[in-house]
Amino acid sequence: MKGIILAGGLGTRLYPLTYATNKHLLPVYNSPMIFYPIRTLVSAGIREILIVISGPYAGHFIRVLKNGKELGVKHLEYAYQEKPDGGIADALSQAEDFADKGPITVILGDNTTDADIAPEVSKFKQGATIFLKRIKNKEQIRRFGVAVFDAKNPEIITDIEEKPKTAKSEFAATGLYIYDSKVFAYVRSCRPSDRGEIEITDVNNLYIKNKTLKWVELKGFWSDAGTFETLYLTNVYWANKGGI
Ligand code: DAU
Repeated sequence: MKGIILAGGLGTRLYPLTYATNKHLLPVYNSPMIFYPIRTLVSAGIREILIVISGPYAGHFIRVLKNGKELGVKHLEYAYQEKPDGGIADALSQAEDFADKGPITVILGDNTTDADIAPEVSKFKQGATIFLKRIKNKEQIRRFGVAVFDAKNPEIITDIEEKPKTAKSEFAATGLYIYDSKVFAYVRSCRPSDRGEIEITDVNNLYIKNKTLKWVELKGFWSDAGTFETLYLTNVYWANKGGI
């Protein structure tokens, strides 16, 4: 299994912090944010990693990560997303050659977790596996993709709604996904959303339509550190834990 970290985008929600560098290099306690998703992959035994970068500070990543050896990465590659805010699925499309028709574990560069995803990684055969997190706060959950479950069989997701006005469940889609090689064809068939991005939620909905999406609840701490409030809370959590 190979791993892909999506670390493009412009980080506009964190202006002015991201005026001078990329969001994923901002500190989370004692490490740059991107160390956390790298650690999640390496801990799951994934040591061939591609990082998709974009925007004016793409070059900063090499100075921080070098060849990845200090973090336990055996093979580190970078890919450049030309449209810096083309969307998560547009960033993922840059990874097709690297994936080389094999399965991939994908994690968003601003997501941190202490969950162990190794069991799902080693079990994975085909289709897609997504990781959900329960968020009881009705306002907070609206920032995410939210799962809609079959009324008769709550094991089955019938739809994922991206940033809905009203959430139809308490389960948010985290930025952690395992895909088979069909993902790139699905990305190609998606059109930009109202916010002008190729959405990963549309890709996941294609797996749902083809009845090949599984989900598991992510155990432990999870955060998306992309806003001032969540960046602060993420720092507090990892500081109390003593970092990674
Ligand atoms: O964190 C989980 C959420 O992430 C999910 O619940 C949503 O379904 C998913 O759409 C996403 O929502 P966000 O609005 O938080 O995504 P954001 O635009 O902040 O992008 C998250 C990461 O994806 C970012 O840290 C880097 C990467 N990215 C994003 C864009 C827009 C790219 O690599 N390129 C891009 O063009």
